[in-house]
Amino acid sequence: MMRLPFYLDCDTGIDDAMALAYLLASERVDLLGVGSVSGNISAAVGAANTLDLLALAGRDDIPVAVGAHDFLAHEFHGGATHVHGENGIGGVVLPHAQREMEKESAAEMIVRLAHAHPGELRIIAIGPLTNLALALRLDADLAALVHDVTIMGGAALVPGNVTRVAEANIHNDPEAAAEVLAADWFVTMVPLDATMESTIEADDRDVLEASNHPVARAIGAMLDTYFDFYVRFFGRRTSALHDPLAAAIAVGDLELGEAPVVHVEVDTTEGPGRGQTICELRYRFLGHPEQEGAHCRVVLSVVEPFTPKLMAAMLRL
Ligand code: BDR
Ligand code: CA
Repeated sequence: MMRLPFYLDCDTGIDDAMALAYLLASERVDLLGVGSVSGNISAAVGAANTLDLLALAGRDDIPVAVGAHDFLAHEFHGGATHVHGENGIGGVVLPHAQREMEKESAAEMIVRLAHAHPGELRIIAIGPLTNLALALRLDADLAALVHDVTIMGGAALVPGNVTRVAEANIHNDPEAAAEVLAADWFVTMVPLDATMESTIEADDRDVLEASNHPVARAIGAMLDTYFDFYVRFFGRRTSALHDPLAAAIAVGDLELGEAPVVHVEVDTTEGPGRGQTICELRYRFLGHPEQEGAHCRVVLSVVEPFTPKLMAAMLRL
């Protein structure tokens, strides 16, 4: 099978770690580089977690660049340690990778890879969109060079997870999200509408912990912390599969359900709507009019269950 060139932008992060594992296991993916961004934890810690996970997977060949520490209009204030643990990966201590980060920034890495693979590079962004916005600012030709962008972020018809209306990745840097959605490239947005419907359960975690593979075992251990957080949402020890679902959709591994291509606007005001992704979904009442100029596919649902695919991927690493 022909491998396609991918760049991953992440804030590793427990579900980011699962997304990384999913991509490493895929025969369709040539992961050319990974950039970190502040979000769940600082960009520096997220990059170190990524480097260590890659080492554990035996993939020291994949370059890692540190990305933006602060957001476009606001400083980073410590992240979501109550969700992902103090070190971002549920307190799991990984063996330290024996290599350095790249000297370039994540934004520079995006621009370099896009030029090296014109029309081919697929970008997956599973943290705040700061690095992508900075890359767009670095190179006016970037959007035209990139094949497409898949983001985990937003909430279309469901509540937010950090405010009543905003999802964490978009809420961390709404200005960056607005720039990324305004750029002239095709974006697939995977919001909470889809990701809260895919869960990994306690018996899946047991299987991971019993695995021979160190990455699967580490993820199984991390999930204990993620379950601690999600028990209040679901009433049982489980967690949503935000980032790996976006990764699988980017690779083309899942049949999409309702996934209209529509206009999406990000609320960048300082009011209660800050970070909301306002999606033009009135076609539901008005029929299915074409939305001229729209280039954001909003994945509201997927058809098949994703967890078995994710489990299989993590176990065959
Ligand atoms: C998103 O926020 C982060 O905490 C997760 O890693 C995921 O990317 C979910 O809202
Ligand atoms: Ca993430």
